[in-house]
Amino acid sequence: MVDTPSLKPQVFFVLGGPGSGKGTQCAKMVEKYGFAHLSAGDLLREERDSGSETAALINQCIVEGKIVPVEITCQLLKKGMEKQGWAAKRFLIDGFPRNQDNYDGWSKVIGDSVDVPFILFMDADEDTMIARIIERSKTSGRNDDNIESLKKRFATFRNETMPIVELYETMGKCRKINGLRGIEEVFADLETVFAGFI
Ligand code: ADP
Ligand code: C5P
Ligand code: MG
Repeated sequence: MVDTPSLKPQVFFVLGGPGSGKGTQCAKMVEKYGFAHLSAGDLLREERDSGSETAALINQCIVEGKIVPVEITCQLLKKGMEKQGWAAKRFLIDGFPRNQDNYDGWSKVIGDSVDVPFILFMDADEDTMIARIIERSKTSGRNDDNIESLKKRFATFRNETMPIVELYETMGKCRKINGLRGIEEVFADLETVFAGFI
């Protein structure tokens, strides 16, 4: 039997705690390999700043480190993918699926219309992530880059996101990256993991 290559878009989810380096590494993949990159957090901040009817809810979730209902996030991701051109694309989707609700909503709305060959899990300890976010807070202008919100974001990450990482692990689809090293060293690991897709 001939193995026909899939014509579906490929989606690689990128998960990891706040400050683990998701955005940084995705930007490098875009620059060097032309991947399309969507950050669920960036899309939610954009939607909040547009002043739409969901803005207040989104902002409340962001400050509290809670996860926005998937109906909102999934629509933003779908629109973002359509805008980039859906067909035959390699997408990095950063910060999604963040909990079971995200996972189920995606499965329902997008599901089998894309392939998810694997996800990346950017692994870093909380002390390192805190130091990075405190540094980032000097210029990010984000209202959740403060120690109070950060503690809540870590709790959400541990309680809601890690089970999703583990779910992909059990499917043999999780590629764990040591995010503690320098940006270039981490990127070299991504290049190894993505061999065959770049
Ligand atoms: P995330 O998107 O996972 O929250 P970012 O990519 O925004 O994380 O990185 C958080 C902060 O840490 C940024 O200021 C970034 O410049 C810095 N950073 C990212 N990766 C590294 C790294 N490997 N070593 C040191 N600092 C890093
Ligand atoms: O990934 P990022 O750090 O930019 O996410 C910021 C915040 O956006 C999260 O703490 C959360 O409140 C919200 N978010 C969400 N659902 C996602 C991604 C982000 O609710 N899938
Ligand atoms: Mg980010």
